[in-house]
Order: sequence, then structure tokens, then C-alpha cells
Amino acid sequence: MKKLIVGNWKMNGSLDANTALVAALLQDTQAWACDVAVCAPAPYLAQLHTSLTGSRLDLGAQDLSVHESGAYTGEVSAAMLKEFGVRYCIVGHSERRQYHQESDTTVALKAQRALAAGITPIVCVGETLAQREAGQTEEVVKRQLAAVVHANGHCISEIVLAYEPVWAIGTGKTASPEEAQHVHHVLRAQLQAASQHADRVRILYGGSMNAGNAQALLAQADIDGGLIGGAALQAAAFLSIVAAAH
Ligand code: PGA
Repeated sequence: MKKLIVGNWKMNGSLDANTALVAALLQDTQAWACDVAVCAPAPYLAQLHTSLTGSRLDLGAQDLSVHESGAYTGEVSAAMLKEFGVRYCIVGHSERRQYHQESDTTVALKAQRALAAGITPIVCVGETLAQREAGQTEEVVKRQLAAVVHANGHCISEIVLAYEPVWAIGTGKTASPEEAQHVHHVLRAQLQAASQHADRVRILYGGSMNAGNAQALLAQADIDGGLIGGAALQAAAFLSIVAAAH
């Protein structure tokens, strides 16, 4: 399966910084053996739609509304994202679950909205440190994925899944390749029980992935790519992760 490396820029960037970062990323795309995308803040999607069209770098968003349209001040719909060439949309990132109280049901509905608009949702699941220490990792990620499976039925094989242990995000701590592989294997089995096409779902690892640890993580059987935060803001670091994905 072709691997997928996705940069999550979070709330970073500016018109000038984005221009410089994209120019550096697009320098040698023929060398890429994997699919690559960047998920940008909503106001920059128009800028990136223009600069990425026709390139090998795909465009992603970081969130979308559960609603289709109407009186929802501040929200951005799936159809709007689609107009700007958005191919992927992160849903249920732990920062949204934590700071914006997104429930498993909300995340599942967002995935459904994305799929209905022809956008691939990158569904994030992951346990907190307290949950890991209490031995609840499997139970938590399975519950989070089950809600998405329940709402999306056989379309589940169209999603991208990302396992992001909350304690590893932005902390410099990563799950070991074996720890990550174990959870990916559990998630794969859950997908297989839900769909006969589960083997085509790419399961990304996220949480302090960087140039130094990417290769060992990406060598695991069920790790099909990465969701990269901090290291996605520097072209050289991001490109070495891309180079490790083949
Ligand atoms: P990080 O973030 O790479 O900075 O840990 C990953 C993410 O939150 O998607």
C-alpha cells in the first residue's frame, strides 16, 4: 500500500511563510514514493489551492462542520472545502476533542459529512497518558473508532485513520515502533470486522514523528504513514519524513 505523509500545520502560518514553505516542499516531488498532503488553516486554503493545483502535494483542511449549511456562525462546510480543492480533512484531532469538547458522535458525523462531499476524512483516535497508565488504551481507541464505523457503515474503507497517542503530541515523546504497531494492529482488526476492504485503509501514526524516528515507525506492518505536526513546519524535516516513506 502506498504510504501517506500528512502535515498538520495547526494554527501556524502566514501568506508569506506558506509561500516559502510550499516552494521548498515542491522542489523535488519526483523523488516522492508516497502520497503527501498538508492540512492548512481554513483562511489559507484559497492561497494553497492556487499554489498546489497540478502539483503532487495534496491539500487538506483541519476541521469541518457537522452541519451542511445555514445559521452556524464561524463554521465551514464540507462543500466549501471541496470548492477549494480540499482532498483530506482531519476530524477528531485530540486538540478538538479536548479544547472544543468534540464527542465521538460529533467526530463520526464530521467523517460522514466529509465522505458525502468526496473528501477523505483523516479520523484521529488516541488515548491520554492517564488512560494508557490505567491500561485503557485499546478500550479507548476502539470506542472512538466504533462510533465512526457505526455512522459510516461500508464507507469505512474510504477513510484514513490516524493513531495519535495524546501524550506523544507535541511533547517529543513518541510511542515506540512496537507500541504503535500493537495499537495499529488492534485498529486494523476492528476495521476488518467492519469491512472486507479494510486492508486498503491507511492507518497513520502521529505524535512527535520526526526525521529521526520516522523510518523505524514506518517500517511496522500496520503503519501506513504519518500525521506530522511540529516537524511539518520545517521543509527539511518534513521532507526527510517523506523520504523515509516508501
Ligand atoms: P506533533 O503533532 O507531530 O507536533 O506531535 C502531531 C499532531 O498533532 O497531528
